Amino acid sequence: MLDIKYEMNKELKEKCSSSNLGFGTNFTDHMFIMDYKEGKGWYDPRIVPYQPISLDPSAMVFHYGQEMFEGMKAYKTEEDRVLLFRPDKNIHRTNITNDRLCIPKINEEDMLQAIKELVNLEKDWIPDAPGTSLYIRPFIIATDPFLGVRASSTYMFMIILCPVGAYYKEGINPVKIWVETEYVRAVKGGIGFAKTGGNYAASIKAQMKAKERGYSQVLWLDGVERKYIEEVGTMNVFFKINGEVITPSLEGSILAGVTRDSVIELLKKWNIPVSERKLSVEEVYDAAEKGLLEEAFGTGTAAVISPIGELNYEGRIININNGEIGEISQKIYDTITGIQTGKIEDNSDWTVEIK
Ligand code: COI
Repeated sequence: MLDIKYEMNKELKEKCSSSNLGFGTNFTDHMFIMDYKEGKGWYDPRIVPYQPISLDPSAMVFHYGQEMFEGMKAYKTEEDRVLLFRPDKNIHRTNITNDRLCIPKINEEDMLQAIKELVNLEKDWIPDAPGTSLYIRPFIIATDPFLGVRASSTYMFMIILCPVGAYYKEGINPVKIWVETEYVRAVKGGIGFAKTGGNYAASIKAQMKAKERGYSQVLWLDGVERKYIEEVGTMNVFFKINGEVITPSLEGSILAGVTRDSVIELLKKWNIPVSERKLSVEEVYDAAEKGLLEEAFGTGTAAVISPIGELNYEGRIININNGEIGEISQKIYDTITGIQTGKIEDNSDWTVEIK
């Protein structure tokens, strides 16, 4: 158990209004920090006023990107209870990423304690309008002042909090997606399954290209054959073809999303056929041609459920479900957000209350 020291912020900010929150621009009054040194382990856990941090310009994170991050959310229920959604999954994934990036592991109970204490202190920042929540961003950076390429021997672990609304300006309305054939995001054996900045840095060029053409996000294809569907921008992706819901299997190059896992579990519970397997873009286009492509949607913590209304693959444009949210996508969105906000009974022990 961590002995977290508190330094309270004397100048509290005005809370943002729940409407028009957007994503990732407002931060709460406090943050969590803990340091690591080889031979000493993680030490000095503290909650301090939200503030800039000071780092040596040679800190390794700036040069070789040895860092990781996570994304989770806290929700306020109608009775003013505060819920986390499957925090164990994100915390466990932290150590999967740490292992790949040669970052020292974090004790999973300590990480949950740090999240709970910080969120509890900042609970008045949790917005309560529909579709809003408090986004939790834990991250770790390599801090050795050194320009050689190796694992750092010192790190900082931090958690910041951000009241958020919808990640995409479209909200729950369908987004238009560009199927990328020039750039790739990751290959098996690389870092595609890890939650680390490098994956997102590699994605920006294609995302800009898609934006210029009027598309919100990129659909990535596998890096070897450029044939199989991987994931979309900041989300995992699902297609409903002739009654079966299909999502790409986890083969090392895509992220094992917590929302992805929850969607699969819900579909199984509802006896809707769901499979994790290789899915080629041609299979999706063939299905569309035959009138069998019923729905497509992305899933992610930030994006929640984001229906896909249009795909553009090498100039071949398909509209999905007339550009409207599909029945299954809507049911999944309502169920997941319902469980997250305590409106629907949680029979799977997914929520963890902060008291
Ligand atoms: C999340 O969904 O929490 C993510 O981390 C995606 C992020 C890049 C916005």
